[in-house]
Amino acid sequence: MTRKILVTSALPYANGAIHLGHLVEYVQTDIWVRFQKMQPKDKVAECWYVCADDTHGTPIMLRAEKDGITPEALIARVHGEHFRDFSGFHIAFDNYYSTHSPETQECANTIYGRLQNGQLIEKRTIEQYYDPVKQMFLPDRFIKGECPKCHAKDQYGDNCEVCGAAYAPTDLIEPFSAVSGAKPELRNSDHYFFKLSDPRCEAFLRQYTSSGVLQNEAANKMQEWLGAPGDNKLTDWDISRDAPYFGFEIPGAPGKYFYVWLDAPIGYMGSFKNLCAQKGIDFDEYWKPDSTTELYHFIGKDILYFHALFWPAELAHAGFRTPKGIFAHGFLTVDGSKMSKSRGTFITAESYLTTGLNPEWLRYYYAAKLNSTMEDIDLNLEDFVARVNSDLVGKYVNIASRCAGFIGKKFDGQLASTDAAWLKPLRDAATNLGEAYEAREYSRALREIMALADVANVFVNDKKPWELAKQEGKEAELHAACSEAIEAFRLLTLYLKPVLPTVAAAVEAFLNIAPLCWTDAATALPAGHTINAYSHLMTRVDPKLITALVEANKASLAPAVEAAPQKHAEKQEKAAEVAKAAAEAGPHISIDDFMKVDLRIARIVDAGHVEGAEKLIRLSLDIGEEKPRQVFAGIKSAYDPATLIGRMTVMVANLAPRKMKFGMSEGMVMAASDTDGKTSGLYLLSPDSGAQPGMRVK
Ligand code: 2FM
Ligand code: ZN
Repeated sequence: MTRKILVTSALPYANGAIHLGHLVEYVQTDIWVRFQKMQPKDKVAECWYVCADDTHGTPIMLRAEKDGITPEALIARVHGEHFRDFSGFHIAFDNYYSTHSPETQECANTIYGRLQNGQLIEKRTIEQYYDPVKQMFLPDRFIKGECPKCHAKDQYGDNCEVCGAAYAPTDLIEPFSAVSGAKPELRNSDHYFFKLSDPRCEAFLRQYTSSGVLQNEAANKMQEWLGAPGDNKLTDWDISRDAPYFGFEIPGAPGKYFYVWLDAPIGYMGSFKNLCAQKGIDFDEYWKPDSTTELYHFIGKDILYFHALFWPAELAHAGFRTPKGIFAHGFLTVDGSKMSKSRGTFITAESYLTTGLNPEWLRYYYAAKLNSTMEDIDLNLEDFVARVNSDLVGKYVNIASRCAGFIGKKFDGQLASTDAAWLKPLRDAATNLGEAYEAREYSRALREIMALADVANVFVNDKKPWELAKQEGKEAELHAACSEAIEAFRLLTLYLKPVLPTVAAAVEAFLNIAPLCWTDAATALPAGHTINAYSHLMTRVDPKLITALVEANKASLAPAVEAAPQKHAEKQEKAAEVAKAAAEAGPHISIDDFMKVDLRIARIVDAGHVEGAEKLIRLSLDIGEEKPRQVFAGIKSAYDPATLIGRMTVMVANLAPRKMKFGMSEGMVMAASDTDGKTSGLYLLSPDSGAQPGMRVK
């Protein structure tokens, strides 16, 4: 039967940068989707890959407040950054959307309404810590205090980082709010619960979690969580939060919002619904209970509980289909340990790209380590260099670089017959390799592909085209050897295409062929086919780049350490003092006035002269937004544009855009000068090293 497939990766939170840990999952999913998209239409008619930013919840609300912007502005900025980073690693979503969308809200309301109709929602009063200064209920992570077990100070409300004990926030000794520093009070509030303990949910989940949709390890874990039959361990799930909360208000419950984990997976639906409108896809065909389409979620093992229990139970009882597969992967370690900011191994996607590392090196390395289990994978930086250089450059690219030139120079770019017996195993490998990709056994697939590359290299080593080329009367042999090697290279490229999409596109251009599909393995390039000139496809990893990458991450993340939260009362007192002083002092401005100026760290990504303007330089400034800002700066007397490219400075980001003769100026860079701005030169401001584009200056 023709398959129609919908695939998702977990939705990243909209308040943090994408890092190499995140990328394990997106690379894993993207490879799988690209493999499906290479299948013939009669096998896989459609395969859609959707994702979105996970935008709701208290941390995002507070982070926006801290940055002095609205949550909407924060999530818009982060969406741009996430999209930029994913695109940089060639993650080809069909739609990258947001949970803060009308589609997600509509689906959330539908699901909630249907669960309510099915008597699976219950309102109960609970007692919870409340911050009387900030006037909000506090999530466990925002309450701190002394560990009731080991008496370590400053521990979170749910567990102790020193002794590992898990407890309720009410067990903490001398609790305080991490938001304001105030002593929290216990208050009552009405909450809405999804009745997961209901016998209907239990029966459904027992059947569902043992029906083959989960990896064995995950299925076993679920049985533990469900408890032995007759001993239901499922407890009802609190799906509401009180205002103030950044999220969707619950229909019919003013001041109550859906908990972020309720609407997050519904974001998969929302993103797909949005895609359906763009492409004319039938949403219901994919989500109706008896759908014959396939739905797969790629996730990290830490969020299995939400995806394998809550989410399918919601879907099943709200009249929707359930996932056909939930594929959990392990965590990433770097050099054998948890990623660490101080060691520089908490590596952001952006820093990897701006340091100049090739994203396909990482895609290959991850693929070489990934399989269908939940085992953790290690990025060993030394091994990364060795593996990429030996496999991709030493084995794969080497085949083309040793043979292509002769075809161009000696045979006008035309191939001889490539239908040789030694190529048969390479051609036949398509079946096995296809099975390995389908089963997410990428490490096995790449091992086999490299074994085939070895076969091709042995062939080239035996034939020695560089020697044949020097001997008279050996033209036909040289032509055949190089043509067959090029055919082997085409097959290897086809098999590597899900992992190395841009290399594959460059090879398709070089070989002068249509985009490679999986079935193309069966058809050899015909004799007489003309290929284009070869240009180098991939450089070796220079170990110096790795050193620079680690250094960049040490530097950029070191200042991110949070200052201890100032007690709210102190903060308020201080602000009142400043405001009073401002009111009295005439020439001063208040802190609020100052905060109106949105100063941002900017990287000068481009700089050039402006024709017809004596004093101006045109700057292109990256402040972490989707597109760089254009700014015209009157600093030509002091700077040569070429020397500015790459350096960091400070810009006013919320200055109203100004239309100039040369184009729009979208802000202002800051420079020091004497009062008349003429006598003693101009000095562009620079932040200390470590500041990143987009950071607020205040
Ligand atoms: O754990 C996380 O990072 C969540 N933002 C994942 C959400 S996945 C899905 F349910 F939306
Ligand atoms: Zn403790």
